[in-house]
Amino acid sequence: MGDIQAEGELILRTQAMPADTNANGDIFGGWIMSQMDIAGGMMAKAVAKSRTVTVSVDGIRFIKPVHVGDIFSCYGTVSHVGNTSLKITLEVWVEPVLRSNLPSKASFKVCQGEFTYVAVNDNGEKHKVIRE
Ligand SMILES: CC(C)(COP(=O)(O)OP(=O)(O)OC[C@H]1O[C@@H](n2cnc3c(N)ncnc32)[C@H](O)[C@@H]1OP(=O)(O)O)[C@@H](O)C(=O)NCCC(=O)NCCS
Repeated sequence: MGDIQAEGELILRTQAMPADTNANGDIFGGWIMSQMDIAGGMMAKAVAKSRTVTVSVDGIRFIKPVHVGDIFSCYGTVSHVGNTSLKITLEVWVEPVLRSNLPSKASFKVCQGEFTYVAVNDNGEKHKVIRE
C-alpha cells in the first residue's frame, strides 16, 4: 500500500506542460527537481527569514512518472535546523490529468527527496539561521 496523504505544508502547485517532457513523452525529472528546489527554497527563505542557497539534494526518488496535464503539488516539512543550514523533506503528489471517458483518479505521490539550504547574506556568505 502506498501513502494515502501528503506530509507537510503545500508550498507550490502547478500543471505539467508539454514543454517539460523528456524524450519518452513523460515529464522530465530535471523539471520535477527544479520545481522541488523552488518550493524548498521558498520554505527555507520563510523559515530562515533570509536569503538561502541550495547546498545539497539527497535521497531523491522518482516513484511514478508524471504526465502532461497532471496537477503537480509540492509539500514540504522542515526536518532539521542546524547552525547555518536547514533540511526540508519534499514530497510531490499529482492529480492525474482528466481524460473524458475515464473517472477521475485520486492523487498519489510521485517523488520525494531531502533538500538542504544554507542561509546567506547579500554577499553569499553563510550566517546563522535565526528562528523565533
Ligand atoms: C552553501 C555555501 C555558502 C556553504 O559554504 P561553506 O563555507 O562551504 O559551508 P560549510 O561547509 O560550513 O557548510 C554550511 C552548512 O551546510 C551544511 N552542508 C554543507 N554541505 C552539505 C551537504 N553536502 N549536505 C548537507 N549539508 C551540507 C553543513 O553541514 C553546514 O550546516 P550547519 O552550519 O547547519 O552545521 C557555499 O558552499 C556555496 O555558496 N555554495 C553554492 C550554492 C549554490 O550556488 N547553490 C545553487 C543555487 S541556489
